Amino acid sequence: MTLSFKPMTTTRFVVEVEDIDLSKPVDGASVAALRKAINEHSILVFRGQTIDNDQHIAFSRNFGDLEIHTVKQYLLPDYPEIIALANRGENGTTPIDNGGAYWHTDISYKAKPPMGSLLYSLEVPPEGGDTLFADMYAAYDALDDDMKDRIEGVRAVHGYAARFSQMGEGGKRPTLSAEQLAEVPEVTHPVVRINRETGRRALYVNEGFTQGIEGMPMVESRTLVDTLNAHATQPDFVYDHRWRVGDLVFWDNRAVMHCATAYDTSYPRRMHRTTIQGDMPIA
Ligand code: OGA
Ligand code: MN
Repeated sequence: MTLSFKPMTTTRFVVEVEDIDLSKPVDGASVAALRKAINEHSILVFRGQTIDNDQHIAFSRNFGDLEIHTVKQYLLPDYPEIIALANRGENGTTPIDNGGAYWHTDISYKAKPPMGSLLYSLEVPPEGGDTLFADMYAAYDALDDDMKDRIEGVRAVHGYAARFSQMGEGGKRPTLSAEQLAEVPEVTHPVVRINRETGRRALYVNEGFTQGIEGMPMVESRTLVDTLNAHATQPDFVYDHRWRVGDLVFWDNRAVMHCATAYDTSYPRRMHRTTIQGDMPIA
């Protein structure tokens, strides 16, 4: 199999991978090429795919062990590796209308946040319900030297409980049990994160889960997180993915933030996500 990578932005951020059928096992050389590509481009888009749950999981495992989400109510009963982002629910899962409608990187609130996520679309509304992605390497590179100095060696506090309680979802969100809360204590991560394989530096704070800067007074800390978030989400750094049925998007959580956009929820929207385990972020 020879893969081709077609740029989807004018920068190296985001490529479409052509000539690949994800329902079939992918050979070793192609897996190596995809691993190289995710480090290089941060987002890989595969279009026109038809895969079942086993195939989605099998393809994902090429990149690492899979993460099982804390909120079991969202997981497919027979496939706990798959979180269903489905506004009608699926096999009894709790419906999600607008799961990540705030800038975030998946599960940054864990000590070892996932390396990547693979989101596959099964049903999409006629318009809206896009996913926006921000290039956190480009965002870091574009900071002025004063800001780079200010955040060097600084750590941020990430948490899930506060965000989860705000999400609401029209009362459909379950509440976290004591056991679930115990799985997600606050953690700290470097604000500037280095990719172990390439040495590139990415900004690593997000609106969703970053609660503040370690050791900084609350107001100053909130202002800094907001400033960095606003900087990173400028149009120059953002790719807007307009979903078609059969798209699978594989993104690097070490290197991008993402945010779901609004849509008319009278239309069904149904997506499946697998999540690849990751390393402890390093500065
Ligand atoms: C996710 C996510 C956004 C969307 O799958 O992690 O945030 O557009 N999805 O559904
Ligand atoms: Mn997400």
